[in-house]
This record gives sequence, structure tokens and C-alpha cells, in this order.
Amino acid sequence: MLVILKRDGEEISLQAAQLIASAIHRKPALVLGLATGGTMVGVYRHLVGLHKQGSLDFSRVVTVNLDEYLGLPAAHSRSFHHFMHEHLFAHVNVATRNIHIPDGTISGNYDQYCASYEDAIRTAGGIDLQLLGIGRNGHIGFNEPTSSLASRTRLKVLSKETLDDNSKFFAPGQESPRCAITMGIGTILEARKVLLLATGTSKAAAVAKSIEGPITSAVSASALQLHPDVTFIIDDAAASQLTQRDYYRRVLEMTALLTPDRLS
Ligand code: PGA
Repeated sequence: MLVILKRDGEEISLQAAQLIASAIHRKPALVLGLATGGTMVGVYRHLVGLHKQGSLDFSRVVTVNLDEYLGLPAAHSRSFHHFMHEHLFAHVNVATRNIHIPDGTISGNYDQYCASYEDAIRTAGGIDLQLLGIGRNGHIGFNEPTSSLASRTRLKVLSKETLDDNSKFFAPGQESPRCAITMGIGTILEARKVLLLATGTSKAAAVAKSIEGPITSAVSASALQLHPDVTFIIDDAAASQLTQRDYYRRVLEMTALLTPDRLS
């Protein structure tokens, strides 16, 4: 596990966008796992910038999003379909047929639909690089605390903490969704490379538990300790409860010296 400590969200988004761009340069048909949420806005802004400068081609990239709210149609202003369109897809040349986001409008046959989502990932060749945020409760995707560490794409009931965090994005009186379709922790762990981004003190406890705590279903992101190629990129505030910050800095220096490919 590599922990990259940055000053702020701007530095984090730039570094994440650079890593994604290098991965696409190395493999133009990259299968890219995408996330939504405030932390991702800057990353997508930088990717759009690189595309507009002519240095990043998405024409062969396949994208697979982590999750979507159950009950929200793609056109809903709070759907993750809408988020992705607004922040990335409308501005780059990803082919529509290469975009995969769980369908929030399905009703019934959830298991069958979720199995077909997993099939789509497999058919694409598996996820090369998965981008992740983290919830205050340690969730990745919408894998709320106590999610099985072997879980696959499925219907998930959202936790109280997540409902509270989300309610600010919905107008007063507008009910926020109580469930979501999300890739499972097992699905995420099969990605070849994982990049988790976090900013702010509200994420500090979840980040510390994920990196330095025991592996537990009470903190979904702690399952990433089982993955051979995970990079956390976090700001000083999100890193504030980590006890081994100096060690992570030394690891980073040595990585830059000995295996710089891991950082580009
Ligand atoms: P955020 O969401 O980027 O809006 O903080 C992260 C998450 O809940 O996964």
C-alpha cells in the first residue's frame, strides 16, 4: 500500500488525473472504474483539461461506475449518471457504448441485473484502474459497514450516516434515495490497481482505520489491505489520525528513487 500525502484537494486531483492519464497512455483501451462525489470533481476537471489540450484520448477507454441510487432516473439532477455526464462524459470522447453505470430505475430481478453488471465488467476484461472515494463511515462505493468483504454488485440499503451526508444534496422535502446498486468489495478487490482519494478532517478517522486498523467489515475500505496495488492519495487533514506519516513519506521517497513507474 502506498500512501501519498498532499497539501490539499487541488494537489490530490492533479496527481490522480496524472496517474489516470498515464494509465490511458500506456493502455488506450483501459477499463477505468469511476467514482462520484465531491472529491472527484477536481480529478474530472483535470482530465477534461488534458483532453481539451489534445493530450488525452478516451475513444477506446471503457468506463465502469461504482454505483447508482436506486429509484433515480439518469436525468435526475442528483443521479450519478447526471454527475458523470456533467463532470466528465459531456466533455471528453468516451464512446457511449463504452460507458457503464448501474441503472437506478430497475425494479425487481435485482440479482439478475447485478449479475449482468458483473458480466459486463468481465467481458470488458476486468477493471484495470479503480478510482475510489471514501465515506465518513469507511464505505467504498456504497458498501456500508458490515458489507461482506467478498460481496459482488448488489442492492444495498444505505446507512444513516450516508443518508445524512446525502440529504444536503436533495432539496428540502425531496426524499433522498434509501438504497443503491453498488459494486461489491469483492468486485473492487479484483481491479488490477486501486486509487483512493480523501480530503478533510471528516475523513481522517475512516482513513486511519482503513490503512492502520484491522481488516474488518465494519470499515469496508480496510479490505483494501488485501489488495496488492493500492495507492491512497490524501491531504494533511485526512491524514491527521495516521500514526505512521513519516514512514509513508520515506516509502514514497524510496519508491520515487527505486520504482518510479509506480508513481506515474
Ligand atoms: P465525497 O464522497 O467525495 O463526496 O466525500 C465520498 C464517498 O462517499 O464515497
